[in-house]
Amino acid sequence: MTKVKSTVLPLDAIHHGDCLDLLKKLPDECIDLIVSSPPYNLGKEYEAKRALQVYLDEQTIVLEQCSRVLKSTGSIYWQVGWFAEKGLLIPLDVRYFPILESFGLIPRSRIAWARQHGLHAKNKFSGRYETILWFTKTDDYYFELDKIRVPQKWQNKKHFRGDEAGKLSCNPDGKNPGDIWMFRNVKHNHEEQTIHPCQFPEDMIARIVLSSTPDGATVFDPYMGTGTVAVVARDHGRHFMGSEIDPKYHAVALRRLSGMPDANGSFPNLKTLRDYCERTGKSVKNFRFDVQVGKTASDRSMAKIYPEEHHLHELEERIGYEEAAFGADLRGHERPEDHGLNGKKKTPDQQKLFS
Ligand SMILES: C[S@@+](CC[C@H](N)C(=O)[O-])C[C@H]1O[C@@H](n2cnc3c(N)ncnc32)[C@H](O)[C@@H]1O
Repeated sequence: MTKVKSTVLPLDAIHHGDCLDLLKKLPDECIDLIVSSPPYNLGKEYEAKRALQVYLDEQTIVLEQCSRVLKSTGSIYWQVGWFAEKGLLIPLDVRYFPILESFGLIPRSRIAWARQHGLHAKNKFSGRYETILWFTKTDDYYFELDKIRVPQKWQNKKHFRGDEAGKLSCNPDGKNPGDIWMFRNVKHNHEEQTIHPCQFPEDMIARIVLSSTPDGATVFDPYMGTGTVAVVARDHGRHFMGSEIDPKYHAVALRRLSGMPDANGSFPNLKTLRDYCERTGKSVKNFRFDVQVGKTASDRSMAKIYPEEHHLHELEERIGYEEAAFGADLRGHERPEDHGLNGKKKTPDQQKLFS
């Protein structure tokens, strides 16, 4: 295993280049959390089976380095989908499991990230989930469930008899979110959508960052894409580090982080535009965002610039979906965006999660 002499860490920066070049420069045990979705377009130059093994061999080298730089209390969350080619359909997490275990990493959860929407298959069931593997370096790992509780099925349910009669029978701070996650994927009208085809949603990464790191921790993403992990880490008072090999995605990540318009008055996505206008009091009419068509905001996209109703609708849709999936009755109770869980004032972290 590579031993590296400690240098000054490139904190709060995204290396433009290959993740292995960056990883090899990092000292042992300097990272609290690694969260990433690696690429899995395997190229055309080999037969599919061979290409898959070549890819997994490359990933093994990256993950060996990730394991080395992870602190003993640290976690790694590795989000993957399916490898499909020429009659092959392989859930990639199955292939990653033994690789992660081979470095002594310990499995904690296999999270199914389910989506309401997606492509409609004609000859098989439409794919509606991918997975996130959560492994820790040791049994002494950081995890704060209280930071990421979600509303109970019956949030205000009380004991109706016995010594506890009248008292809440469930945790008023909410329940464990479980290992089936419903975060909307960043497509089409999602306000975080940039030019990248497969971004993480910020709220999903916030759940991981808040539960698995203390304030001021360092969060690493070797495959930063448009910098979602960096933005979320920064917004929650953590440091970030990472790399992105593609110059156009690297540039988008830097623009998201800066939060400022470019020379043409354009932002990488609607969310960055809206945040800027809220912060400065400037009119959204003067700006546009990259995935818009045209030079200034059209009426249609302008409508999306004030997204409160849109967000409310999204939240209701998500709750409705969870009700249908799990028989939960969430609507009759206070919505988290209104009052916080069980009417308690929301913590700043909860406000960020539900805003
Ligand atoms: C699935 S995307 C990650 C998207 C990211 N999670 C986001 O929210 O924007 C994987 C990214 O890894 C980048 N990539 C591929 N090979 C790389 C390498 N060797 N080093 C660094 N980045 C790489 C790709 O350009 C791509 O943007």
